[in-house]
Amino acid sequence: METGNVRFPNGKVVPPIGQGSWHLGQGRRPADVEAAAMRTGIDLGLTLIDTAEMYGEGRSERHVGHAIAGRREEVFLVSKVLPSNATRHGIPKACDASLTRLGVDRLDLYLLHWPDGRTDLAEVVDAFEALRGAGKIRAWGVSNFDVDDMEALFALPDGRNCATNQVLYNLGSRGIEFALLPWCAARGVPVMAYTPLGGSRLLRDATLARIAAQHGCPVSAVALAWAARSGGVIAIPEAGNPAHVAENARALTLELTADDLLSIDAAFPPPHRKAPLDII
Ligand SMILES: NC(=O)c1ccc[n+]([C@@H]2O[C@H](COP(=O)([O-])OP(=O)(O)OC[C@H]3O[C@@H](n4cnc5c(N)ncnc54)[C@H](OP(=O)(O)O)[C@@H]3O)[C@@H](O)[C@H]2O)c1
Repeated sequence: METGNVRFPNGKVVPPIGQGSWHLGQGRRPADVEAAAMRTGIDLGLTLIDTAEMYGEGRSERHVGHAIAGRREEVFLVSKVLPSNATRHGIPKACDASLTRLGVDRLDLYLLHWPDGRTDLAEVVDAFEALRGAGKIRAWGVSNFDVDDMEALFALPDGRNCATNQVLYNLGSRGIEFALLPWCAARGVPVMAYTPLGGSRLLRDATLARIAAQHGCPVSAVALAWAARSGGVIAIPEAGNPAHVAENARALTLELTADDLLSIDAAFPPPHRKAPLDII
């Protein structure tokens, strides 16, 4: 099974592996190395780039802006608004600030970062729709929404225009497979899988290492191809190292076999009951 592209409800098609940026542009390495890593990813087809106003208090967005300068048309750009800014007046202000930091005039996708229980979802949807009408975003979605949150969203006027739900999903955290993933799949809502390498913990796993050796590919590619195996999931690994990004891009052409998937299920059993959504 080769990892296929993913279609958003507005018809936009993206590769199933993108790039995260939570810790980038914040001094962990020389900024040029991290920018080179992101550009390597774009060269290799990892064109969806995920950021958020929260990451490094704007430094991640500035870093992404620097890394994609001159290449805006090649990338599918995702950012997120904090719940504390998620009001009728706060959302357009936060979006403008993100656009300025990124050095672009439009986002491809704008997400509510998480539901905090106080956010007025109807107001959020109205504000997102207004931004879409104004051409500042092409689509909007949510993050860290469980099934009941999605039900509440879809019950609102225009709530069904939600283009994605970005949630924790990796081999060590398969909980969404029980209810949320099928719920989204049934409604044509792609899921974005964050922390798809388990924050790099999965790279030390013996089962994944054996499968990777059989395919002659990096371990990270196995974990990412697995996350994106359904055609309805986009995995967004973060890597500030060009060699790591190149390893991750190998997932785009990796074909996991039925035997591989059985071995993976034995090592990382799928969920058998509904549990609360894990959030990082
Ligand atoms: N919506 C949300 O609430 C939410 C929450 C968490 C994360 N996210 C998004 O998801 C993205 C990814 O999640 P994450 O950063 O938590 O975890 P992750 O992608 O699972 O893991 C990132 C770690 O893996 C390492 N890595 C990546 N590729 C590697 C490779 N081929 N070989 C060895 N190490 C490798 C990276 O190190 P190097 O930098 O050294 O390559 C980094 O330390 C974030 O950047 C963010 O955009 C969203």
